[in-house]
Amino acid sequence: MTLISIRDGRKHYTLDKAQTVALDGVSLDIASGERVSLMGPSGSGKSTLLNLMGCLDRLDAGTLVIDGQDTKKLKDAALSTFRNRTMGFIFQSFNLIPVLTVFENIEYPLLLQSIPTAERKDRVMNLLERVGLADYHHRLPENLSGGQRQRVAIARALVTRPRLVFADEPTAALDQKTGRAVMELMVEMNEQAGATLVFSTHDAGVASYARRVVHLLDGRIVEAGGAA
Ligand SMILES: Nc1ncnc2c1ncn2[C@@H]1O[C@H](COP(=O)(O)OP(=O)(O)OP(=O)(O)O)[C@@H](O)[C@H]1O
Ligand SMILES: [Mg+2]
Repeated sequence: MTLISIRDGRKHYTLDKAQTVALDGVSLDIASGERVSLMGPSGSGKSTLLNLMGCLDRLDAGTLVIDGQDTKKLKDAALSTFRNRTMGFIFQSFNLIPVLTVFENIEYPLLLQSIPTAERKDRVMNLLERVGLADYHHRLPENLSGGQRQRVAIARALVTRPRLVFADEPTAALDQKTGRAVMELMVEMNEQAGATLVFSTHDAGVASYARRVVHLLDGRIVEAGGAA
C-alpha cells in the first residue's frame, strides 16, 4: 500500500532576493513498511524533501498525499495534528528540549495527544528500556552523550507509535559505533513495529541499513531505487 506519494513536488527558498530551487519537480512513492534512504551531495535537497514529507514545511507546487490525505487540503492546525498522530521526526541535532528531563522530552508528544498519565508513564518507560536508557529518565539532555541524546530523540519520535518515521542524518553527529547502534535500533523498530522509515545520510555504510536508496542531485531524483 502506498503511504507517501509526491507528484511533481517543487520548493524554492528566497534569501536576500536570490532564489534557490531546492526541489525541482520530485515524484516519489513510498509504500507502507518500507525502509528508504535518501542520498546525494550537500545541497541536493535531502533535508528539504524530508521536511516536506514530515509536514514541517509545505510544497510550493505539486501534490503530497500521505496515508490517503492530500496535505494541501489541511490548514496549519489540522496539519500539525495530522503530523503528531502519524509521524515521528528525528533531527540531526536531536532538538531535545533542554529544560525537560529525558522522561519529559519523550512524554511531550503524548501530552499533545491527551494520553492519560499512567499510559504515558508505561509507554515512555517501555521505550526507554528498549533504547537502553531506563536509568537515565531523570537526567537533562545536557548530561547525556551524543549517542544517548539521539536515542532519546528516537524514543520521542516513536512514543506515539507513528506509522511513519523520518530521520535527517540521524548518525551525522555520532561516532561510527554509536551510529551503527542507532541505525540497528531504527531497523528493529521498522521490522518489529512496522513503522515506515525514511532517512537521509551522506554515508554509504549508513544507507546500507535501508532496503532502497533514493539518489538526489540538484533538487531532482536521479535514481529512485527498486521497490523493496
Ligand atoms: N532556509 C533556507 N533558506 C534558503 N535556502 C535554503 C534554505 N534551506 C535550504 N536551502 C537551499 O536549498 C537547497 C537544498 O538544501 P537542503 O538542505 O535540502 O540540502 P541537503 O541535501 O539536505 O544538504 P546537506 O547534505 O548539506 O544537509 C540548498 O541549495 C540550500 O542552500
Ligand atoms: Mg540536509
